[in-house]
Amino acid sequence: MQTENLVLGAYIVAAVLFVLALAGLSKHERAREGNNFGIIGMVIALAATVWLSLSRAADPLVTIALIVVALLIGAAIGLWRARVVEMTQMPELVAMLHSFVGLAAVLVGYTSHLEMADHGSGDTVHAVEIFLGIFIGAVTFTGSIVAYLKLSAKMKSAPLMLPARHWLNLVAVLVSVGLMFWYVSSLSVVPLALMTVISLAFGWHLVASIGGGDMPVVVSMLNSYSGWAAAAAGFMLSNDLLIVTGALVGASGAILSYIMCRAMNRSFISVIAGGFGQEIAISADTDYGEHREITAEGAADLLKQARSVVITPGYGMAVAQAQYPVAELTKKLRDKGVKVRFGIHPVAGRLPGHMNVLLAEAKVPYDIVLEMDEINDDLADTDVVLVIGANDTVNPAAMDDPTSPIAGMPVLRVWEAHDVIVFKRSMAVGYAGVQNPLFFRENTQMLFGDAKERVEDIVRAL
Ligand code: TAP
Repeated sequence: MQTENLVLGAYIVAAVLFVLALAGLSKHERAREGNNFGIIGMVIALAATVWLSLSRAADPLVTIALIVVALLIGAAIGLWRARVVEMTQMPELVAMLHSFVGLAAVLVGYTSHLEMADHGSGDTVHAVEIFLGIFIGAVTFTGSIVAYLKLSAKMKSAPLMLPARHWLNLVAVLVSVGLMFWYVSSLSVVPLALMTVISLAFGWHLVASIGGGDMPVVVSMLNSYSGWAAAAAGFMLSNDLLIVTGALVGASGAILSYIMCRAMNRSFISVIAGGFGQEIAISADTDYGEHREITAEGAADLLKQARSVVITPGYGMAVAQAQYPVAELTKKLRDKGVKVRFGIHPVAGRLPGHMNVLLAEAKVPYDIVLEMDEINDDLADTDVVLVIGANDTVNPAAMDDPTSPIAGMPVLRVWEAHDVIVFKRSMAVGYAGVQNPLFFRENTQMLFGDAKERVEDIVRAL
């Protein structure tokens, strides 16, 4: 009893540390601190859980041996993946990790069922917990595998459009509800197994019918599901910490999905209902006029005369790994007395906070890195905007053209500045597949080439 109370105390401490970790991670300046809270919380949680299972084990030696082997295998794979993964592959790694959480919830569910069957009886609430835990876990498992396959281009990213797909989903849910009643009244493994097969197929179909374009939102949605799956496992195991942690992950994933949808001007329901991200009509026949080009030396001359500069990075900065020369350019300009700030669009790049992470990596001071809403009104008073590998996030068509696929998406109004220099390799479209009229505006000049090389050229010219 005393051990259980101490473990409960440790769980409460760990839960508080996880809340502090989330609070820290929501601000640049405190992200490192937040991470440390999370690490300490996880160590306490693991140590307490190992201690608890040892105190209950029939043969502690066998238990500790099994735990050590599992920890070693898991830690080795985790360390190896974390070291080799590229920043651009992060979403697919996260998707794969979610599938493990789903699988774990399914396995915990079946173990709890077997334990209940051993006792020969069980209460209704526990049976519902088991049923829901396995359902959410199985949906998360196959859904995350499809997300991983799509993100890593091992599966076609176009949405799977089965006829009557919404009806299929509805029937799957309704049949599962019926099976739940059967399971609760009989505690037989048959409805449980039938539901598992249905929910595995349901999870697969749910994500397969969503286009690659919405995959990052789907990953964050699956993150939320994996949290609920963990919370369900917590209920099955009567583990308070798992319930709290699962709820934290579930809620934060849901909030993040909502924020991403809002920044992309997509409704959450339409993302889940799927079908978006197929062929987007590109109005190739629209005549936008001629674009102008500039050299790195010309750009350096403009920057020398500028008093205020705003840099709006995008996915191309990540591809080119241009953040280091960009940081160097920022320092050079600031040393000359130029006011330099960054404007970060909420969905610039390919994952939430992508640009912030890159800029922090290159040691750009946090206080000059501003959110889109903080910088947008200042752009009209800015001498030069450097658009480094961004495209959709600075597209005026989102505001001016109601027929554009990105109409209504909030964008950085860079065209209001006196001069705009766009760094990219060609006139190719961005992620959404739409042409960008910004490139043809009178105050815009294109600086073609790899963003890293071009920024280095400017630094040299300065
Ligand atoms: P994008 O619209 O993706 O455009 C990136 C641009 O970078 C491209 O036009 C490309 O043009 C250029 N580029 C690529 N490699 C380059 C290199 N080595 N050097 C210089 N330029 C290079 O970028 P964005 O403005 O960041 O917009 C992000 C898009 O992703 C949005 O549509 C957003 O909705 C979507 N999205 C974002 C997220 C999150 S959470 N961030 C999630 C899902 C979807 P060239 O090929 O001509 O060089």
